[in-house]
Amino acid sequence: MQPFYSLVNFSNGKVTDYHNKAIRKYKDMENFFKMYLTKDIKANLKEKTIYESYEIRLPKKNGNLSWCTTIIYPGDIAGEYFMTKGHFHKNDISAELYLCIQGEGYIIMQNHEGKFIDCKIVPGKAISVPPEWGHRVINSDKNNKLIFVAVYASDAGHDYAFIEEKGFKKLLISENGKPKFIDNPNYQK
Ligand code: 6PG
Ligand code: NI
Repeated sequence: MQPFYSLVNFSNGKVTDYHNKAIRKYKDMENFFKMYLTKDIKANLKEKTIYESYEIRLPKKNGNLSWCTTIIYPGDIAGEYFMTKGHFHKNDISAELYLCIQGEGYIIMQNHEGKFIDCKIVPGKAISVPPEWGHRVINSDKNNKLIFVAVYASDAGHDYAFIEEKGFKKLLISENGKPKFIDNPNYQK
């Protein structure tokens, strides 16, 4: 393989020559939001775009790195801010590096023993996610996008099952216009 490059647009998060674009709407990730919603409200939110990402994907081979930008739109679902689904890596020994380039929010991380850590993110802040820590990014600014770059082993993979079923220990909700962590009522361990 030859070296190659792409350009990241720091104002809109788009990447040149990407291999994969993903758009996640509310209907693709309903179960990941844990605040209670009636069926009618859920139905109305189905087409809302929560985030999109642009990936430079190398073959799934030990030693290769893939990376992507993710743009999380501003908003909330019953008070719970827009966020990524959140996952553990299937290949759990894979670490990851996050670099925030626009907006503000939080990265939340949780390990298999149930230890939970949150870290505020602002442009320029780089966060090292060690192996075996589940991770999610949350946009806590209701007026602006949150954009970040993530770099990970190409064979890391995603395991969403635990987060989809139980979620992280804490949820980030908007209370009187300010972000506040509360216990996730759906989480028991
Ligand atoms: C990864 C990264 C990152 C992440 C996206 C969307 O391991 O690939 O953590 O690319 O997948 O930001 O987040 P979710 O996959 O958790 O929805
Ligand atoms: Ni990851």
